[in-house]
Amino acid sequence: MGTPASAWFEDRIAAAVAPLLPGFAVEAVAEIDSTNTELMRRARAGRTDPVLLVAERQTAGRGRLGRPWQSAQQPEAPASLTFSLGMPLTPADWSGLSLAVGVSVAESLDPTGAHQVGLKWPNDIWVNDRKLVGILIETAMPQTARPDAARYLVVGIGINIGPREGDGMRTPPAWLRQWQPDASAPEVLQALAEPLVRSVLAFEAQGFAPFAERFAARDVLRGREVTLSDGTAGLCEGVAWGGELQVRTDAGLQLISSDEVSVRPRGMSF
Ligand code: BTN
Repeated sequence: MGTPASAWFEDRIAAAVAPLLPGFAVEAVAEIDSTNTELMRRARAGRTDPVLLVAERQTAGRGRLGRPWQSAQQPEAPASLTFSLGMPLTPADWSGLSLAVGVSVAESLDPTGAHQVGLKWPNDIWVNDRKLVGILIETAMPQTARPDAARYLVVGIGINIGPREGDGMRTPPAWLRQWQPDASAPEVLQALAEPLVRSVLAFEAQGFAPFAERFAARDVLRGREVTLSDGTAGLCEGVAWGGELQVRTDAGLQLISSDEVSVRPRGMSF
């Protein structure tokens, strides 16, 4: 996988997170196909330790709905932050996890909301209708016959740090250096990692409820006309307590929970 060119503060991040997640480790690599693919491969092979894997380059990054995820192409220090967090998890209910992850990342990137870092259901992070962060959540079943065994959660996060072209992208990009000119991928990772693990553990214990109002405060679709990829159209009334998107259509209020559906503000193409 190669030695990374940047210093990724692996020891500092591991020391901050290990009290929350015993055995937690941080690995940095120069290149990999996809950090999510790698952690899912490991989990299927029985390796389910808590880990954060960060890659300077992904050759086959993956997005939601089977789409590819491409990092910003720049010769200098990583212009994108691409990493995955893997850990066993046993929440009573998985609904809303991806929204809770979005809340955690948005709050770390823009604690006061001064930079308009918002959440676009289910878990994209947008700034003024431009995409800053993509999140891909997957789970693997352990190789055991026990029905109550923990599933292995893989949270993959891609963040635009430096400028990038929007060619071929469904949503034009935003990047962190637009308002934080000195932002670097390792420093951003250091700021995100511990709050992210804390949020996932809070979700495991309490579900989406502690995140609902925080999501609402940054919801970029609420109050806007939206169109869904299944043809549904209506007024977005925000997110319900279970994490479902609420859309007021001619047929009444619809609760959208499927993560196979994609939603856009009216007028933005799919
Ligand atoms: C999306 O916007 O559709 C989700 C994009 C998720 C990208 C990240 S980058 C790190 C991790 N590895 C991947 O292959 N994908 C996620």
